[in-house]
Amino acid sequence: MSLEQALNTAQQHIADVFDHYLSELPVNKKDTLHQAMAYSLTNGGKRIRPFLVFIVADILGLPTKDVSAAAAALEIIHCYSLVHDDLPAMDDDELRRGKPTCHIQFNEAQAILAGDALQPFAFEILATAQQTDAVKVKWVQSLAQAAGIVGMCGGQSFDLEAENKQLTLIELENIHNRKTGALLSCAIELACAAKPNLPPQEQQELLTFAKNIGLAYQVRDDILDVISSTEVLGKPQGSDVKLLKSTYPALMGLEEAQVKADSLYQEALEALSRLPYNTQQLADFAAYIVKRNY
Ligand code: IPE
Ligand code: IPE
Ligand code: MG
Ligand code: MG
Ligand code: MG
Repeated sequence: MSLEQALNTAQQHIADVFDHYLSELPVNKKDTLHQAMAYSLTNGGKRIRPFLVFIVADILGLPTKDVSAAAAALEIIHCYSLVHDDLPAMDDDELRRGKPTCHIQFNEAQAILAGDALQPFAFEILATAQQTDAVKVKWVQSLAQAAGIVGMCGGQSFDLEAENKQLTLIELENIHNRKTGALLSCAIELACAAKPNLPPQEQQELLTFAKNIGLAYQVRDDILDVISSTEVLGKPQGSDVKLLKSTYPALMGLEEAQVKADSLYQEALEALSRLPYNTQQLADFAAYIVKRNY
């Protein structure tokens, strides 16, 4: 199966899983908060994080159903992070995935609450998954760490404080690793947690792969903010420049930023070469990340 076909399959699977979980919520589906949550989950999105969970599960010989709940919970945390990232107090953006951002479609208070409610929703899905308690505890811990102060929220906090500032490369790398890399690495952790007796060395190589593509993903995102268009991105082009964000192109220039993304890609491939599996799909995934146009 080509990467594109596999991504389409993953997107369809996540759509079905979200429909299921949203319909199971014991509330009136016309409630504003339910609508705002459903809007934020089903307004498109490439679904690369759950896709990564599925690819790694497949490589480890696990059926998709064993990791569906984890993949869905991870994507829910990601979707909530976007709802809050777009708020006026943060990046103040009005377009996301080609549609009005949650606070424009509903209002600011409901968007804050949608983000708030999406978080426990994700953890409830983990807690009630068809998995052993041991796997579920690992999932909860891994997702909580990646989403919280050590990961995404911590990175977002520094990202906002870094507006109008000149950072060192190490400081910028720390922000990107946390705000974006943590959830991508979490995809690997969630899949590995579901595999009994996985040699720690193999998980380590997979995490090295994830760390490199996680950073490459945000470097490419920064580049696209400069070179792409609002129409193609589905989010406002130039948002980083407008807010004087600390980004790779701002710090090292566009060309050097792409050189950095390419070298992270090479390191990711090297980690794969040390694994005793057919990792072609992960290699294709990494190529897609550094070359993507939206
Ligand atoms: C956007 O993430 C925010 C970043 C961390 C770069 P994605 O590029 O995965 O956004 P969607 O989910 O496809 O909309
Ligand atoms: C966002 O980074 C990372 C998140 C944790 C949401 P950006 O602010 O660059 O993401 P976009 O460009 O708005 O998607
Ligand atoms: Mg941001
Ligand atoms: Mg943003
Ligand atoms: Mg961006």
